[in-house]
Amino acid sequence: MGKVAKLIVFIPKETLENETRVSATPDTIKALIQCGVDVVVEKGAGNSSSISDDDFKKSGAEINEKFFHDADIIISVNPLTNPQINTIKESCVCVSFLDIFSTHEIISAAAEKRITYFSMNLIPRISRAQKMDALSSQTNIAGYKAVIMAANELPKIFPLMMTAAGTLHPAKVVVLGVGVAGLQAIATAKRLGAVVEASDVRPSVKEQVLSLGAKFIEVPFDKDSESKDGYANGASEKFLKKQAEEVSKRIAAADIVICTALVPGKKAPVLISKEMVKSMKSGSVIVDMAAVQGGNCELTETDKISTHHGVKIIGVTNIAATVPVHSTQMYSKNILEFLQCIISAGKLNIDLKDEIISAAIVTHDGKIKNEKALK
Ligand code: NAI
Repeated sequence: MGKVAKLIVFIPKETLENETRVSATPDTIKALIQCGVDVVVEKGAGNSSSISDDDFKKSGAEINEKFFHDADIIISVNPLTNPQINTIKESCVCVSFLDIFSTHEIISAAAEKRITYFSMNLIPRISRAQKMDALSSQTNIAGYKAVIMAANELPKIFPLMMTAAGTLHPAKVVVLGVGVAGLQAIATAKRLGAVVEASDVRPSVKEQVLSLGAKFIEVPFDKDSESKDGYANGASEKFLKKQAEEVSKRIAAADIVICTALVPGKKAPVLISKEMVKSMKSGSVIVDMAAVQGGNCELTETDKISTHHGVKIIGVTNIAATVPVHSTQMYSKNILEFLQCIISAGKLNIDLKDEIISAAIVTHDGKIKNEKALK
């Protein structure tokens, strides 16, 4: 009997501009090989994450000069492009971030090609899936880095200093949106010595804000501001008006505002108007982490640092990519955990009854399986 060919997992070099991450590390490749598969890495795929082709080779991977079209499974950070999808094997399994609200063409092409596409954006928030939660791992890093970026632009230091040369007052930081990014931003700003205040639409957040030593900006909550899975529902007009009143007072006094407010599948809520920016002190900084979904600030320019009335507004969309070693380390581990869910004894085992698999699957068997993507 001939030798049965092993499944081939391929790690492409990311093609998106400014992307520095890669979907595997030598450690996760070793673990994949132990699952009974072969691994092929595109030449130079790890360069921007400080992983050389030699490092990958030593972990047991084969290096391919170009994109490898004959893989059974392709794992990446960003979605494959349409031309890539057109050239890969039918029935190939792809795993990457894939925002179903903005990738209709890719999803249609994948369904047509009978590709099974899993989106890391759709990993459910259940305990068993925590190790696969790539949105959280990348956002956590970005929340930290957003504060460091702001500190770098601020013409002041963060902590209180009482010295013979006089007293320096602590920086005032306002965090809008207290999910994973917001919590990490609060913790980082507190560690650097700032006085921090935060606002969110979800009532469950208040306790977390207080436990980090920050103040919560009080606005009477809407009844249905939180969905069953812990995300925000869109807030009411009444709430947003009252929130704007309260937030605008804090913003006028702030040195730094970190914006992280998002509502899944919708444009980010605008929480900082042009007038509010005008009211801020010259030299203050806004980091708009919601820029990827239109921004929480009316004046944010995507992937630019702009200055309005002396206020710097940072609209960098892929903050995790500015710290590629750690973001790659975490993303690769998330992906490995997911692959271990669909590979069993070296074979593909896609159990559509599994809660994680059924939540993350976007296309399969020539069909679009995700209801929201279908709509
Ligand atoms: P996200 O990235 O969708 O949104 C960020 C934050 O913006 C949220 O806290 C949201 O309530 C807030 N927001 C939306 N509209 C707003 C407005 N108008 N004003 C102020 N804030 C507004 O959320 P993320 O970071 O994904 O976290 C959502 C929740 O899920 C959090 O409670 C988080 O702790 C929880 N979570 C649970 C996990 C699990 O159980 N495995 C894993 C990761 C997160």
